[in-house]
Amino acid sequence: MKIVHTITELRAHLTQFKHPAFVPTMGNLHEGHLALIAQAKPLGDVTVASIFVNRLQFLPHEDFDTYPRTWDSDCAKLQAAGCDVLFAPNEQELYPEPQTFKVHPPTELADILEGFFRPGFFVGVCTVVMKLFACVQPRVAVFGKKDYQQLMIVRRMVQQFALPIEIVGGETTRAPNGLALSSRNGYLSESERAEAVQLSMALKGLAAVLKAGATDIAVLEAQAMKSLTARGWQPNYLVVRRRSDLQAPTPSDLLGEALVVLGAAKIGATRLIDNFEV
Ligand code: PAF
Repeated sequence: MKIVHTITELRAHLTQFKHPAFVPTMGNLHEGHLALIAQAKPLGDVTVASIFVNRLQFLPHEDFDTYPRTWDSDCAKLQAAGCDVLFAPNEQELYPEPQTFKVHPPTELADILEGFFRPGFFVGVCTVVMKLFACVQPRVAVFGKKDYQQLMIVRRMVQQFALPIEIVGGETTRAPNGLALSSRNGYLSESERAEAVQLSMALKGLAAVLKAGATDIAVLEAQAMKSLTARGWQPNYLVVRRRSDLQAPTPSDLLGEALVVLGAAKIGATRLIDNFEV
């Protein structure tokens, strides 16, 4: 695997390829990331991953400084997964001056759900993704469905800017008990880790009753919030949304519209997210 730290080196190396397939990450890689690499591999003539912990998408009180940086094991995992190129710029390389030009996604997509609880998050994500796309110039990029809203916003951004990049969604990788793999699972204590699957179970339960024909969405959402709260969680949201635009479904949407249930909740000091398509 070729490791490059500068945009110049990256561009020079990629000139020999026509169809890069790209997986952007913030490192601290787990099986979920490696599944995205495996998915990307047959989609291009070179597989590129990036590791960059993007300050722009963290709020001041969030975990930018403590976000786990696990360089040696990340490199070993990417190498073993058959990644061809790792682009790992430092902040000086990617943001040599304050990044005053930013990509602002539309509020109706970016200020709801994750964007409501993490204001500015999707401005940070879109800005860095746009910049990473400019560096790598991929033909295909793979993003995990665990970050469902991120995937949708990146898709729309690429579409609206007419970028020649196909955005592919990767299924969420789960632990045997159903817990969605996440770099932030590493923050969980042993007891929190055992409890953490309850978020997935609550969302899966919600998806199951919807599939079975339930229509009283507001009641179901409130019950799911209440039962997680009773277990000691601090839920931000557990909601049913239309897959197409992440807006609340109207009664007529329940008949034919594809839906997704999404949730975010804190267990102890750790905030987890998950979702299930209905
Ligand atoms: O999903 C992530 O890890 C990040 O949001 C991304 C896409 C690498 C941008 O920093």
